[in-house]
Amino acid sequence: MALEHLSATDPEVANAIRAELERERTSIELIASENFTSLAVMEAAGSVLTNKYAEGLPGKRYYGGCFAVDVVENIARDRAKRLFEADFANVQPHSGAQANYAAISVFAKPGDTILGMSLSNGGHLTHGSPVNFSGRLYRAESYGLDPKTERIDFDEVERKAAELHPALIIAGASAYPRIIDFDRFARIAHDNGAALMVDMAHIAGLVATGAHPSPLPVADVVTTTTHKTLRGTRGGLILSNDERWFKALNSAVFPGSQGGPLEHVIAAKAVAFGEALQPSFSDYIFNVVANAQALGEGMTSKGLRLVTGGTDNHLLLVDLTPTGEVTGRDAEQALERVGITVNKNTIPNEQRSPFVASGIRVGSAAATTRGLSAQECRRVGEMIGEVVFNIDDESVLGAVAAEVQEILAGHPLYPELG
Ligand SMILES: Cc1ncc(COP(=O)(O)O)c(C=O)c1O
Repeated sequence: MALEHLSATDPEVANAIRAELERERTSIELIASENFTSLAVMEAAGSVLTNKYAEGLPGKRYYGGCFAVDVVENIARDRAKRLFEADFANVQPHSGAQANYAAISVFAKPGDTILGMSLSNGGHLTHGSPVNFSGRLYRAESYGLDPKTERIDFDEVERKAAELHPALIIAGASAYPRIIDFDRFARIAHDNGAALMVDMAHIAGLVATGAHPSPLPVADVVTTTTHKTLRGTRGGLILSNDERWFKALNSAVFPGSQGGPLEHVIAAKAVAFGEALQPSFSDYIFNVVANAQALGEGMTSKGLRLVTGGTDNHLLLVDLTPTGEVTGRDAEQALERVGITVNKNTIPNEQRSPFVASGIRVGSAAATTRGLSAQECRRVGEMIGEVVFNIDDESVLGAVAAEVQEILAGHPLYPELG
């Protein structure tokens, strides 16, 4: 990787960036929230737009000299609206958490009740966790999964909505492998006087291509990150089709919760949305879902149990109980040693702390970008099973590590970077 200016002025940072490129190249990335952006996205994110202050919106800025960033931000907004069939888009949130902070503030005042999926059942910190603004500013209540089906317990959502009168119901998850019924969430919310926010961060790429039903026709507001299945730069996005909220959503981002927008990141979002509008992105998402299913087949063939029995999207939640004593933390560490990157994750009815956990979360988005086939993903799933059932057997671990490098050699990552 050239990094010619950085190498000359700051070799310490340059070397750390090279080390990360090497890490990405030499492991099979199965963290469900990660992906590999294109070089075009990275070029935009690393551009001179980082120099520009542009508080406000295109055409209505608090600073001079905004003609170029206005072009960029308008392209990003227009593409986001086209991609998700939305009438409104704000592309300024710095991250998914920032998007949620702003969106929630439009529908709930501090002290109001919000109802989101519990973190231990697959929700996100920003959906009401006590250690997050969402649980500190609001009276946060949660719903979970039906213990039998391990799917969202809509009876509980309905009961809590009727009893607690939340101002806002939040749908969406960080670790849920099945289709989410947004129509049902909307009916429950609207029948009980609540607004519905859908956080589609994980599945945005699937929604963009029709591989998952869109929340936009029924939700009051939709938030997302831009860097998971959407395969863009790190960032956030707010969408809506209900014009009652457009003005308030813009104000909630700026001046409500952010200062100057990151126009270099907004340019990178524009590039990523442009990529996602290409027909090839639909093929990519089709392969993401097929590869997730293949990973699942490989793991179950070795005796692991998938929460809900499988997946409809890009991720799987794997119950390690069939291994006996192996925890999520053990599995994460052993898999890292053989070159497979996953994260430990709580499973329904978890008995261990989240720092140890009894499961792992496995996603196919990044490996699919890298070009792994369904057949290879099935084999990777088998290798995960081989590692967790033989966690102390160095010969098994060594054989898997060698096979991981063989698979990766067939799919070079960022070869253009040298
Ligand atoms: C459902 C969901 N919402 C929001 C976020 C937060 O996004 P960010 O890390 O960009 O703040 C995540 C991140 O993992 C997520 O899974």
